[in-house]
Amino acid sequence: MNRTLHVDLGERSYPIHIGAGALNGLDAQNRRCLIVTNDTIAPLYLPRVLEALPDAAVCELPDGESFKTLDTAGRILDQLADGGFHRDSLIIALGGGVIGDIAGFAASVYHRGIDFIQIPTTLLAMVDSSVGGKTGVNHQAGKNLIGAFHQPVQVIADLDLLATLPPREYAAGLAEVVKYAALGDLQLLDWLESRVAELRSRDTDVLTEVVYRCCLAKAKIVAADEREQGQRALLNLGHTFGHAIETASGYGTLLHGEAVAIGMVMAADLSCRLGWASAEEVARLRSLLSALSLPTSPPPIPPDEFIALMQRDKKVLNNRLRLVLLRPLGHAVISADVPLDTLRESLDAAA
Ligand SMILES: NC(=O)c1ccc[n+]([C@@H]2O[C@H](COP(=O)([O-])OP(=O)(O)OC[C@H]3O[C@@H](n4cnc5c(N)ncnc54)[C@H](O)[C@@H]3O)[C@@H](O)[C@H]2O)c1
Repeated sequence: MNRTLHVDLGERSYPIHIGAGALNGLDAQNRRCLIVTNDTIAPLYLPRVLEALPDAAVCELPDGESFKTLDTAGRILDQLADGGFHRDSLIIALGGGVIGDIAGFAASVYHRGIDFIQIPTTLLAMVDSSVGGKTGVNHQAGKNLIGAFHQPVQVIADLDLLATLPPREYAAGLAEVVKYAALGDLQLLDWLESRVAELRSRDTDVLTEVVYRCCLAKAKIVAADEREQGQRALLNLGHTFGHAIETASGYGTLLHGEAVAIGMVMAADLSCRLGWASAEEVARLRSLLSALSLPTSPPPIPPDEFIALMQRDKKVLNNRLRLVLLRPLGHAVISADVPLDTLRESLDAAA
């Protein structure tokens, strides 16, 4: 059964349509459209979108995080400007988080901001990146360094599109799903544990429910803290550890969601050492992630190097490591004063 929910942001509110076949509801209301996609997704799903929008122009980008750059955003902007697209034109982002972030960024700056629709094609994009309005591109000095907050006018999460997603990409999206449960929804955690088989087989009814519940959680957090002044940072559970792991192992070795899965277990272990979560809770999180084909232990990284990499993460404020931890499982907190000795103990145990 299809479901719709609303992200409540006053004038910038928008619906998220979720379900198998949700794409059939795509309607650009006769506005001029530019569909932004990549050369992997275009052969699979562009014909379906063009069926609904036969007059739309298409900007097909090369696939990959390495193309999430200002140059690539410039290509989209050139096409909009050269094609005489106006202030009331519409960008349709058809792809995973990379396409959503670049296309959203182009939409945020063209004519000082035009509307865009997100049609996420990865599970990660459905439960995370397409909702919340963070757009941007990478710079050699940092990931997502250049960007803007710009909310879409609509998100269409059609679960049929996940059928072609490679298994590792799919599992990486499940890591973000588990993240929502671990940070704020124990009932969701129970439910995920009881649906492992359906999750592994990509059952569309179960996925509709999963995407709905994750988007609901994200929508609530974004509505309360659109510009990440406070509680939106809870969404970074596992990310400071994860970024350090991604950097140490070389970008591209582990997918982001895989690094986040390992990072969540490390955050849980540290929470346990602080007396905030139990060993059973750490084991529970680890076993759910393993059941979903996700890694749960870091590659060997010397603890000193690990800490240095964590300190480079942008979540460092006034030289203190700010970490999202569990107090207990199902309730994330931001902690700014974790004793370094306890962190080191935890890293030693993981190494
Ligand atoms: N804006 C945000 O709030 C936010 C949040 C989290 C992550 N992100 C960003 O999202 C990006 C990662 O997104 P992602 O994990 O979706 O990766 P991605 O966009 O690179 O997609 C992963 C791979 O799967 C392919 N693919 C996508 N959909 C497919 C489908 N249905 N069938 C077959 N192949 C398909 C893509 O072409 C790509 O090769 C990163 O750049 C990250 O910074 C943004």
